[in-house]
Amino acid sequence: MKKKKKNPKLALQNIHPVGWDKKRLKEILRQFEDRRILVVGDVGVDRYTMGSVERISPEAPVPIVLVQEEKLKLGLAANVADNVNALGGIPLLTGIVGLDRGAEDFRELLKSSGIEAGYLLTDRSRRTVLKERVVSERQQLLRVDYESSHPLDAETERKVIQRIEDLIPRVDAVILEDYAKGVVTERVARAVFSAAKKQGKRVTVDPNAKTQVSRYLGASVLTPNTREAEALAGLAIRDEASLLEVGSRILKAAKAEHVIITRGKEGMAIFSAGVSKCRIIPTYAREVYDVSGAGDTVIAVLTLALASGASVEEATVLGNLAAGVEVGKRGTATVTPEEVRVAMEFFARMPG
Ligand SMILES: Nc1ncnc2c1ncn2[C@@H]1O[C@H](COP(=O)(O)OP(=O)(O)OP(=O)(O)O)[C@@H](O)[C@H]1O
Ligand SMILES: [Mg+2]
Repeated sequence: MKKKKKNPKLALQNIHPVGWDKKRLKEILRQFEDRRILVVGDVGVDRYTMGSVERISPEAPVPIVLVQEEKLKLGLAANVADNVNALGGIPLLTGIVGLDRGAEDFRELLKSSGIEAGYLLTDRSRRTVLKERVVSERQQLLRVDYESSHPLDAETERKVIQRIEDLIPRVDAVILEDYAKGVVTERVARAVFSAAKKQGKRVTVDPNAKTQVSRYLGASVLTPNTREAEALAGLAIRDEASLLEVGSRILKAAKAEHVIITRGKEGMAIFSAGVSKCRIIPTYAREVYDVSGAGDTVIAVLTLALASGASVEEATVLGNLAAGVEVGKRGTATVTPEEVRVAMEFFARMPG
């Protein structure tokens, strides 16, 4: 006899382009304009040092990279803010930088993206997170991480909470980006959820695999990727039954409205409180070049869409279309509403 499934009531349901209401999705995209989103979390800089290798060092058996190009990009929660900005929204970015070269680079990057730097806080005891990649011929040779990841001290934590409480009344929704670099402490998370609740604002959370799911208690939406979902639920996703079990466990443990598991090339799975179906959305990517940063694009679109009155299915379809555009670009990248519209027209013509 076959073993009984653990979630007998949860069924899978696929969402296909045939069911899209394009007019409505376009209307939602238009509503992104000037939506104010508070982005709280660990911020940093991604640095790419690119060059050619022609010889081995006489000092040690390592290649010498002759540098041809250096590129800096907003990283971690700042990349999410950059995505909100590119989508037409207004990001209010709160996080911690140190008093170092990385912080100067970071402010420069914000300035050139047109993102307000005034909501950041400085903690001289911390290093600004900076991830440097040394790349030659598209091959990554080395990554160098500069960071502090210990939790905030009590004084800085108080300042961060104060800032969050000041800003929440001024925004349409909140994104909490936990990269486990110290900003999203238990108290900071609690302050975000309770202030947002008081103001009737949604909080979407990009969780970290190292954090206990209980820290996210009170989130409206969680968007773990497969690895994060498995860690939060304490169970591997091996088949349909385990996927359903993982989603329901997180939903219950965080008491969230929705859990959206982003599953790389397998698309996304939506779990909603009180809904007996897990909705599955396939990916909509025309070409896959570099998948890094797709999760950041997803949470930016999803949050803007929900803040614009979209249902969770509509928000996820838009997030998935935007992610499909992002993975076609090099490195972490941002996506515009126009690019999402073009992708929508393309996939709406595909047979279901
Ligand atoms: N190989 C792929 N092909 C098509 N779409 C992809 C692929 N990888 C990612 N995507 C799209 O991007 C979404 C998010 O990707 P993923 O689940 O890898 O998130 P992530 O691990 O948080 O990403 P990151 O941390 O790099 O930002 C997926 O749900 C899917 O829509
Ligand atoms: Mg991610």
